[in-house]
Amino acid sequence: MGMIYTELGKSGTRISSIGVGTWQFGTKLWGWGKGYGRGDAIEAVRRSIELGVNLIDTAEIYGNGTSEEIVGDAIKDMRDEVVIATKVWGTNLTYRRVLRACERSLRRLKTDVIDLYQIHWPNPFIPMRETMRAMERLVKEGKVRHIGVSNFPLRMMVRAQEALSREEIVSNQVKYNLIERGPEKDLIPYAKRERITIISYSPLAQGMLTGKYNPNNRPKDLVRRVNVLFDKGNLRRLEPLMNVLARVAESKGVSVVNLALCWLIRSPEIVAIPGVKNARQAEENARSAEVVLTEAELEEIERAYRSVKIDKFVSFLRIPLNLMGI
Ligand SMILES: NC(=O)c1ccc[n+]([C@@H]2O[C@H](COP(=O)([O-])OP(=O)(O)OC[C@H]3O[C@@H](n4cnc5c(N)ncnc54)[C@H](OP(=O)(O)O)[C@@H]3O)[C@@H](O)[C@H]2O)c1
Repeated sequence: MGMIYTELGKSGTRISSIGVGTWQFGTKLWGWGKGYGRGDAIEAVRRSIELGVNLIDTAEIYGNGTSEEIVGDAIKDMRDEVVIATKVWGTNLTYRRVLRACERSLRRLKTDVIDLYQIHWPNPFIPMRETMRAMERLVKEGKVRHIGVSNFPLRMMVRAQEALSREEIVSNQVKYNLIERGPEKDLIPYAKRERITIISYSPLAQGMLTGKYNPNNRPKDLVRRVNVLFDKGNLRRLEPLMNVLARVAESKGVSVVNLALCWLIRSPEIVAIPGVKNARQAEENARSAEVVLTEAELEEIERAYRSVKIDKFVSFLRIPLNLMGI
């Protein structure tokens, strides 16, 4: 067994159920990003591809273009093996700006076609029809193969679909993982019915679902200091779930990372794009596709998940302390 593959929406394009997320490639702004090094990032992408991963996700906003450049360098001699997914930022959604943003992304990625072009965030101030007219023109010109959205709630995704005249939305990229279940309410059931791929971002809950963080070992970067999951109180609340995950993982001879990722991709409409910082992480993530959970294990995980109550509105007083890492 190795990688597993599924169809991107109803497009006929085959994508790996585990992809690679590249948000942190090249981002280092006043300690905000983790700023993974270029060499490690390139190696991580290439090792992933060797292991059967073909879905590489980036965005014009990541590292202000640096992530796209790194991805372009990493895949330049294997372009045909890869499905490149990139995104146009929410402030670039007017007709002209979409076209220009696409040209810049193509240049940085060193390719003449983007396989999946996604609208990164909805922008209520720009008419959806205008954005979609530009997206469809890009498809017609052969610069984009498929159109996707990201961070679109169900109602907006349906409106985005209605704003298209020839193409279909093939995917919606949203935050979804074993701890953060928002899309289960209505987005996932709809996507399954309509065969729209859900691309799960932060599939490891930004590293929480690796098992390496706890109240005494919190991540140092600002990105995660402002994430409520890494608040000391929440890390304590999550401990019983993490203990169950560690026990199930150990009994199967796999890691918590493997468990968290295979849990997500057990349905063909859902794929995961874990962020990686080196080839070792890339290998572990890719190998998660080989793991299968039994019904009993799924139930045990579900019970443990339901018993956890996360404080989503960490008190004002805690936020500055979290920022200081206290
Ligand atoms: N569309 C959007 O608005 C949006 C938003 C966020 C993310 N995304 C996409 O989703 C991707 C992934 O999301 P994410 O980076 O937020 O979170 P994630 O994938 O849940 O977590 C990634 C982090 O987990 C740790 N990690 C990954 N694999 C590991 C392994 N095998 N062992 C140990 N640690 C491991 C690494 O950090 P450490 O080693 O430092 O702990 C890594 O940076 C992004 O790169 C981006 O492409 C999209």
